[in-house]
Amino acid sequence: MQQIAIFASGAGSNAARIIDHFRHHSSIKISLVVCNKPDAGVLNIAAREHIPTLLLEKERFFRGDAYVPVLKELNIHFIVLAGFLWKVPSALVQSYKGKIVNIHPALLPKYGGKGMYGRLVHEAVIAAKEKASGITIHYVDELYDHGQTIFQASCSIDEDDTPETLAQKVHLLEHEHFPRIIEQVLLGDS
Ligand code: GAR
Repeated sequence: MQQIAIFASGAGSNAARIIDHFRHHSSIKISLVVCNKPDAGVLNIAAREHIPTLLLEKERFFRGDAYVPVLKELNIHFIVLAGFLWKVPSALVQSYKGKIVNIHPALLPKYGGKGMYGRLVHEAVIAAKEKASGITIHYVDELYDHGQTIFQASCSIDEDDTPETLAQKVHLLEHEHFPRIIEQVLLGDS
């Protein structure tokens, strides 16, 4: 069984889809939800699904052991960032080389990097009068939104789109593709 940890900081709609997708999977199990915000919606989802959670302390994550020993002890094989807003420290990237993926709500390399998350991304895309946006699923390295791209999907932007309506379109793409791309990566990886 390949054990997966989902790292998330927010509402957790992607985490919910991923949990659903792998609920009865024969070789992949969502074993842990890792979060940095005690009031994040994703923690309620984990509780409802009876999935153990780990709440990160900033000091230990960035300047301590980055929770690597805990993750290894729990036999976590692969990490999925689903709306996780902290940068992944080098110690964690090195310990899980090629085994951390992230989803970004835009077509990287545009609209990525520090400070580009959630609504801010959609505001920047609309302000630049882009005709399309989308999602990027990529491997995680030491730089923000930088690792090798695994998959992209796009949606068109209409004249009357707002950051909110664009966010909805992007979320639909995320929910449609992220769980199956994770599965593809993991099965190719085993
Ligand atoms: C998702 O749209 C994800 O792409 C984005 O946060 C949202 C989380 O939504 N991630 C980033 O912006 C990372 N830079 P969710 O909590 O409903 O899954």
